Amino acid sequence: MTQVILVDDEQSVRDSARQWLELSDLTVRDFDNARDALGCITRDFAGIVLSDVKMPDIDGLAFQKKIARIDPHIPVVLFTGHGDIAMAVEAIRAGAYDFLEKPFDPERIVETIKRALEKRQLVLENRQLKKALQDSEGIDSRLVGGSAPMRTLKREIANIAPTIANVLILGETGTGKEVIARSIHTLSDRGKGPYLALNCAAIPVNMAESELFGHKSGAFTGAQGKRVGKLEAANNGTLFLDELGSMPMDVQGKLLRALECMEITPLGGNTPRPVQFRLLSAMNEDPRKAIEEGRLREDLYFRLNTVELLVPPLRERKEDIPILFSFFLERAADVYGRTVEPPTAESLAIMMSHDWPGNVRELKSLSERFVLSSLPHEERIPKLLSGKVVDRRESAVALRDQVNLFERHLIKESLARHDGNVKDVIADLRVPRRTLNEKMAKYGLKRP
Ligand SMILES: Nc1ncnc2c1ncn2[C@@H]1O[C@H](COP(=O)(O)OP(=O)(O)OP(=O)(O)O)[C@@H](O)[C@H]1O
Ligand SMILES: [Mg+2]
Repeated sequence: MTQVILVDDEQSVRDSARQWLELSDLTVRDFDNARDALGCITRDFAGIVLSDVKMPDIDGLAFQKKIARIDPHIPVVLFTGHGDIAMAVEAIRAGAYDFLEKPFDPERIVETIKRALEKRQLVLENRQLKKALQDSEGIDSRLVGGSAPMRTLKREIANIAPTIANVLILGETGTGKEVIARSIHTLSDRGKGPYLALNCAAIPVNMAESELFGHKSGAFTGAQGKRVGKLEAANNGTLFLDELGSMPMDVQGKLLRALECMEITPLGGNTPRPVQFRLLSAMNEDPRKAIEEGRLREDLYFRLNTVELLVPPLRERKEDIPILFSFFLERAADVYGRTVEPPTAESLAIMMSHDWPGNVRELKSLSERFVLSSLPHEERIPKLLSGKVVDRRESAVALRDQVNLFERHLIKESLARHDGNVKDVIADLRVPRRTLNEKMAKYGLKRP
């Protein structure tokens, strides 16, 4: 990887500078003019530029300005002869990093360049951190929940989103597969391209092929006008195929062929068209079972599951219930124009003991009914969930454990909200410092 781009129209200067730099283990690429050098400088260039000031065609000052337009944070160090100090000073004013007088002092040159390289490294690291942070915040605002399984899942999403890999999202109904598909699209390089979703269970079997591939006018009885298929409409974007196991087997075969050559032929058409899209798919059943039962082609499955994401059911991440509920509650209150108090600790404890067969979707609809309910506040959850609470005696979570889980959640959330400032947390939760310390130790909580 090039660390120093060296530009000077004089061969002898280039040779001696290069020699010194290479003796100090720096990788150098040299050019006899600025124009050629510019071709190799991009915004993520991880090095610095060392350039002569006086050059025919593009001089050092103009060169520096052009580099600044690519990225103002690429350090540019200028060589100056006697006559061009004034120009170098102007360049510094315009943002150049430093200048070195010719004939140069080898030690000074190496030292200046190492310093400039360190600075460049910092800029790139910061930029990367910022982007990672933005990405994870982007996920956090869509995909609520900070339990350990959710954090792992979010990390996986942030990791695979920028790639072009096909992703198969597996999870029970209502766990958030569609939200995840959208997040992957948004966080990917195709985020600006189209996002299309097709629910294979919701289209009549005989329409599936035309939905995916499109058709020419009159391709089959009832085909009025032509139709652009989802595969073509998703060109340069993402296609999300929901409930994959409901796609007719023959259409699965055709889809597989289309994926292999990235070409599609609309029904009734005869010229294939090249397409580029990323395929995300989801199933709420076990794909191996669907394969055994002859509803999913194994070869297609292996094509689509380059990455498999498993979304855990809500009962395996009960820690997320309070925050998800308050998230949905706020939105529901907004939508219905109501103000609403958060649920009582008893209500939350009941929610913690529920099994949530409908997962997050069920929790979301509970929040809506909670907002709209005419019952006294503290009776809402017990009534709305009555008969639904799974009483498995031994295996049910004990009340004490539920209360603990809830308490832990409150402290953790307050710590995060106050950036770990214990004083603020004490004021927020109205607990003595000692109690807070004890509870943090008990629940294994640390300041963020
Ligand atoms: N972690 C989450 N944060 C915020 N909202 C969520 C989360 N998970 C799910 N939801 C919401 O819950 C509802 C159900 O989610 P989604 O439609 O993505 O589920 P699904 O896994 O696709 O279910 P199905 O298999 O039934 O299609 C949606 O309204 C979605 O916005
Ligand atoms: Mg879905």
